Formats: sequence, C-alpha cells, structure tokens
Amino acid sequence: MCGIIGYVGPRVAREVVVDGLRRMEYRGYDSAGVAVLDGGAIEFRKKAGKIANLDAELAISPLPDTGLGIGHTRWATHGGPTDDNAHPHVSANERVALIHNGIIENFASLRSELVAEGVVFRSQTDTEVAAQLLGREVSAGADLAEAMRTVCRRLEGAFTLVAIDADNAGRLVAARRNSPLVVGVGDGENFVASDVAAFIEFTRHAIELGQDEVVDVTADAITITDFFGEPAPSHPFEVTWDLSAAEKGGYDWFMRKEIYEQPKAVADTLLGRYAADGSLKLDELHIPASELRSIDKIIVVACGSAYYAGLVAKYAIEHWTRIACEVEIASEFRYRDPIIDGSTLVVTISQSGETADTLMAIRHAREQRAKVIAICNTNGATIPRESDAVIYTHAGPEIGVASTKGFLTQVAACYLLGLYLAQVRGTMFDDEIHAVMTELAATPPLIQQVLDGLGPIKELAARFVGTKSVLFLGRHVGYPVALEGALKLKEIAYLHAEGFPAGELKHGPIALVEGGVPIFVVVPPQGRDQLHDKVVSNIQEVRARGALTIVLAEAGDAEVEPYADVLFRLPKVSTLLQPLVATVPLQMFACELATLKGYDVDQPRNLAKSVTVE
Ligand code: AGP
Repeated sequence: MCGIIGYVGPRVAREVVVDGLRRMEYRGYDSAGVAVLDGGAIEFRKKAGKIANLDAELAISPLPDTGLGIGHTRWATHGGPTDDNAHPHVSANERVALIHNGIIENFASLRSELVAEGVVFRSQTDTEVAAQLLGREVSAGADLAEAMRTVCRRLEGAFTLVAIDADNAGRLVAARRNSPLVVGVGDGENFVASDVAAFIEFTRHAIELGQDEVVDVTADAITITDFFGEPAPSHPFEVTWDLSAAEKGGYDWFMRKEIYEQPKAVADTLLGRYAADGSLKLDELHIPASELRSIDKIIVVACGSAYYAGLVAKYAIEHWTRIACEVEIASEFRYRDPIIDGSTLVVTISQSGETADTLMAIRHAREQRAKVIAICNTNGATIPRESDAVIYTHAGPEIGVASTKGFLTQVAACYLLGLYLAQVRGTMFDDEIHAVMTELAATPPLIQQVLDGLGPIKELAARFVGTKSVLFLGRHVGYPVALEGALKLKEIAYLHAEGFPAGELKHGPIALVEGGVPIFVVVPPQGRDQLHDKVVSNIQEVRARGALTIVLAEAGDAEVEPYADVLFRLPKVSTLLQPLVATVPLQMFACELATLKGYDVDQPRNLAKSVTVE
C-alpha cells in the first residue's frame, strides 16, 4: 500500500505534493519522490527512506515552482527500498513520469517484451513497466489519456497509476483497478490521491474513481472514462472527516481500519502466486526444489502473534507435507541448543522484519547450516535480508501495535508455503492443491462477510467493560486462534485473558471457571472427526460451572445452540482455513472493549510496534 498524489493548478505543485505525501506517510515509508513538469521537461527527485530524506534532497537540489506535479511514498512490494526503486519512474524517452500503488501481476512478461525492444530498465519494480509502456505510447503519437487506457488494458493485478507527460503541460492522467483513487475537486485546481488525507485542507469535494476507470485532469476539467474510452459515471461525495480521521480512512483507530483491510490484504498476499496451469508459483523462494525435497524437519520461529500464526502453520504443513514441524518462540529457541542441521528448514515469521528475538534466532539457525525462509510484511527488512528466501505478505503498512491484518496474511502465507512444499515434494495431488487454493482464493469475501456482521460483537463488548478475566478455548487450529484472541485483549484492553486447548481445561484451568466468567469458544466445522463433538462437550463442561459462553461456530451448526449464551456465526470453511474467519470477531472484540475503556488502541501502554531489543 503506497501513498500517491497528483496536483494541477495555480499553487506550487512541489509543495502541495510533498505536504500531501507527509499526510499519507503511514501508507508506506520505504521511499518517497516527486516529479514536476517545467517548460516541457520532467524534473524529479526521489530518495529511499522517509519523506525527511526527500526533503533533504530537495533542499540540496530544489525543483522549480510549477503548477503540475505528482508524488509517491512507497511501501515496497517488488524491489527493495532503494533510490532507483523509488517512484516516480520516468520512461526511457524521458516523456512520462509515473507513480503506482498496487501489484502488476504480469509485469515480468511485459518487461521482457520491452527489453526485447531495447528498453533499458533502471529499477527492479513492476511499476517501471507501466512507465515504459506509457512512454512508448505517447511517443508514438497517442493522446495521453488514450495512451493510459491502452496501457491499462494490458496490465493484470491491482494498480492505481498517475502520470504526467512532458508534452502535456497542465494535465495529468490517472487510472485505477483494485486499488483506491480519489479526485479532489478544487476551484481552478484539482487533485488525485490514494485517499482524501492528501488534499482535505484544500477541498472537501471529491470523486471516487470506479473500477477500471481513467481520469483526465486539468485545473478546470475532470473527464472520466472506462478503459475503452466510454464515458463513465461520476461518483461525487463530500468529505466530512477531519485531517486526523482522514489519515485513518475515517476510522477512529488504525487498528480498526486494518481489521477492515483484511479481505484485501489476504487477497493481495495470494495474488499472483497461482499460475494458470494450476501450479503454485513462489518465485521469490529461490531455494532449489531438490533442497526442499531433502528437508526432514521444519522449525517455525517467531514471537507474539507471528508465533500463533506459526502454530496454525504447523497443522497445515504437517497435514499437507508429512514433514515434522515444530513451532518455537524465538527467544526460547535461541537458547535451548536446538537440534538443527543442513536438512532443517527454519521458517521465520515477522510482520516488521526487525524483531530482535527472531533475528537472533535465525542467525543461530544459519550458523547451524539450516535453510531459512522468512515470511515478512516489510520489504527489505533485516530478517528477510538475512534469510535464504522470503515470502512477502502484502498487507501494506500495519500501524496499529496490535497485529491484525499482519497476522491474517501471515496465516495465508503459511498456507501458501505448506502447499508449495507439498507440490515440490509430491505429497499432494495437483487437484488437491487446486482445491485448497480455490478455497483460499474464496476466503477474502468470507472475511468481508464476517466484517459485515460484527454488530453483535460490538454489543458484546459493551456487556464486558467491567469484566476482570476472559478465557478463550479452541482445538486444532482453533487453539492458536484462542491464543491470538487472548493476546489482543491483553495488549489493548489491559485485561487478563488466556487461551487454552479446549481439551486441556480439565487438567487444571477449569478451576478458573466460575459464575459469569466469559469464555469464547472457537468451534471447528462439523466434519468426520470427533473434533467438533469434543469441543461441544467442553462448552457444556464450562457452562455447567456458570461460565458465560460466547460460541463462534459455522453457519448451520445447530448442535452448539443449546450451550451458547452468545452465538456468533462463521462462514463455512474447511477446518484448516478457519483461522482466516474465526480470528476477526476476536480482533474486533478487543478493539471495541479497549475503545469503551478509553484506552489508546493504536499505541497501547508499554508496547512498541517492532520490538528491536532482545
Ligand atoms: C501482536 O499484536 C504484537 N504486536 C506482537 O506480539 C507482535 O506480533 C510480535 O512482537 C512480533 O512482531 P513481528 O511480527 O514484527 O516480528
């Protein structure tokens, strides 16, 4: 997720653009850049790192005061956070400057086509492909908006593009597919941006660009068409938020915004990893299949929520690959003299990619000759850099300290890794892999369905504002979900909460159960095994002792109804994939309860987003 902005009008475009980027820096801060059009020539400055680095560059090497400019603050997906990979990207013929938010899935084939024509690429990004294609179109004489439409018809994936052309003073074009773009409608000036935070101080009149649309913008005119040039309806709206709310997309907390971003975050994490021939592609894995076939043990190493994602991974990986999979808390793994050798695969999971405990653990693993694969959400972070290979999640920046979309995309990436290992090792038939991938691809709308039905969870939070303790139960992959639900409450509601394997209750923890203790229970789908019935029995056990049972169970599961004081229905998914839908209500419960208690949900006490000390 990146921050993009374009401006055309009487103000100094450079200033409007850079200020707008500052208000969207939470959307990405790997690099920043700005391009302006001055006297028929494009001038640009771009630097890796935060916008402060761009400011310093502009102080040394200023850009002229002009009325047309575009700017970008990057969350790296393809290509590390370097100056060359920073946006804007300028076409080889210096005709166009272009910025992009999203993932161009077919960039590799387009890049090969352009290289064959002699185009010399300056970056490793998918974005530069669009810049080169657009430069080729306008230098062949196409009108700028028509050129943009031609390019968009060739792109696959998710993209918001904004471009300026050296031969088109006072004009910019933009396009969007599966990635946001809003137009700010001013008086004698106009804006385009990823979100309204970028231009809210200048205008509250906005237009939401629809799917597969191109907008042609001058200071006095806005023309919207589809990708084939047909006029498209305009979707005007008035922005009612203040600036602070605008940075959170109108939500009260980044955490709440990130909970609602999960369908897209999971979809983006899965995007482009499943080939048309039905095979899984983890191109970034760069570990020969022969080495993956020689693996005889997997150890997943992580902290906090990432560790719980690893616990989910264990069930999936062992089921699909039949390789023994241990899951270790990084700070413990590091010091327990683990049994590791060249046949061990260590999988490390980290949203930030900077967690010191996790970093020390993988350094130890590599000293013991283990292969290390990182699952990370931060391109170019230390942990992926020090791993043999990386699978990036594409959740976009996660600002809330309590992980939500980071966790769910880690789980999705773990499934991808498990299926890939099964494919390489031949422990699953292609049609079995296809079936799981098909169900995985169908989960984002199911996550959205859960999000749309969170009303009861919000009411529930109001009932428990005064509670002193909450327990969470689950079996199989429901157990890590229980742990994650408890952690969320601890982190942001400062409440004692504990997750247990439901079967473990009778071995001690059931002594905690007394009248009115709220207990969440994640119930597995009804199926062939006894898992479901065992959990129903556990619900009866705690209810018989006065617990207030909040039951999360799939639609149509009537067996739980007599024992549920509160019943929250989940969409039907297979057992292994249930964490993708069961976790969401627990995230929202914690967010709601902490909000009602008046706490800072995004920056809870004693915590940091990335724990870079051991
Ligand atoms: C999760 O809500 C917490 N913020 C924390 O447990 C976090 O998951 C843990 O510190 C690991 O962080 P990482 O994923 O960035 O390595």
